[in-house]
Parts: sequence; C-alpha cells; structure tokens
Amino acid sequence: MEVVIVQDAKAGGELIARGIAELLRRKPDALLGVATGSTPLPVYEALASEVRAGAVDVSRARVAQLDEYVGLPAGHPESYRSVVLREVVEPLGLSPDAFMGPDGGADDVRAACAAYDAALAAAGGVDLQLLGIGTDGHIGFNEPCSSLASRTRIKTLTEQTRVDNARFFEGDIEQVPHHVITQGIGTILEARHLVLLAIGDGKADAVATSVEGPVAAVCPASALQLHPHATVVVDEAAASKL
Ligand code: GLP
Repeated sequence: MEVVIVQDAKAGGELIARGIAELLRRKPDALLGVATGSTPLPVYEALASEVRAGAVDVSRARVAQLDEYVGLPAGHPESYRSVVLREVVEPLGLSPDAFMGPDGGADDVRAACAAYDAALAAAGGVDLQLLGIGTDGHIGFNEPCSSLASRTRIKTLTEQTRVDNARFFEGDIEQVPHHVITQGIGTILEARHLVLLAIGDGKADAVATSVEGPVAAVCPASALQLHPHATVVVDEAAASKL
C-alpha cells in the first residue's frame, strides 16, 4: 500500500484526477468506480477542469456507483444515483448510459444486488475505485464487522453513520434510510486499483487503524492492505495518527 500525504483536499483531488486522466489516456473506456460523500468532490472538480482544458478525453469513460440507499423515492436528490449524476456524470459531460449503479428501489433488493455484481463483472470489472472512509473505518457502506469476502448486498447502517450522513438530509437523522446496498469488500477488492482519499482529523483514527492496524473486519478499510495496488491519499490532519 502506498500512502501519499498531500497539503490539502484540493491537492489530493488534483493528484487523483491526474491519475484518472493517465488511466483514461491508456484505456479510454476505463470503468471508474466513484464514491459519494464530501471527500471525493475535489477529485471530480479537478477532473472536470482537466476535461474543460482539453487535457483528457472522457467521451468513452464509464462510471460505476459504489453504494446506494434503499427505499428513497426515485429521483430523491440524496439518492446516490442522483448524487453521482449531479457531481460526476453531468460535470464530466458523460452520457447517462455510461453510468451504472445498483437499484435501491427494487422490489427484490437481493436480486438487485446480485444483478449489480454480475453487471460489474460483465462490464470487465472496475479499473480504478475511488473510496472515502467513514469515521468508523467503513468503505462504501461496509460497516465494521462486514466480511472481508462480502459481495454486493443489503446492509443496515450503524447509528454513527446515520448521524454522520444526516447533514445531507437537512440534519434530520430520521430522514436517513436505515438500509443500503453496497458493493461488498470482496467486490471492491476486485477493482484493479483502489484509491482512498481521507481529509481532516476526524478521519485520523480510521486512517491509522486501516493503514497500520491488523487486517480485520472490525475496520473494513484495513482490507486495502490485502490489495496489490492500493493508494491512500491523506492530508496532514488525516495522517496525524500514522
Ligand atoms: C458514506 C459513503 C462512503 C463515504 C463516507 C464518508 O458513508 N457511503 O462511501 O466514504 O460516507 O463520507 P465523507 O467523505 O463525506 O466523510
């Protein structure tokens, strides 16, 4: 695992966007796994500015969602489908057809999970998976004690994650769904390159446990230690407990 310490979120975003641009030059139809949350926004902003500057061609790029809430009404602005369309697909000028994600509104959620794993495999697998990290060490929505071999499946959010994510729901935890679909840790580990971005001292404990602690289901992000090509990009605050 490579750990890169950057000055701030903007520098982290630019570094990762340059890596994505290089990947797209080598493989124009690369499948990019994208994460939600606040942390990856500087990556998407930096990539969009590379596209506007003509430094990278994303016309054949494809995008895959990492996770999704279950049961939000179709088109809800905080469904991760809406978020990825708004923060990634539209600013990059991608076709909505280039975008895939799990169906959080499916009647049969288990079948939707299996279908998404199959769709990712049929698409040739994820080339680069961008990840954030929860304060409890979760990746995607794989909460502590998720199996390190897990596949895309339905999960129940911890109280802590619902509290953390309430800011996207007018600060009202009651509006945060209890259930989600997430790529499993085993699914995530199949991506060819994992890039985790963590910013701020709120992530320092989770980063230290993930990078220097034992590989253990209690800290899902520690699974990155098992991956042959994992990059962790942190600012000094997030790196402060390393
Ligand atoms: C959510 C998402 C994760 C994300 C995490 C951290 O739980 N499912 O993919 O990494 O939030 O979000 P933030 O970057 O806003 O701290």
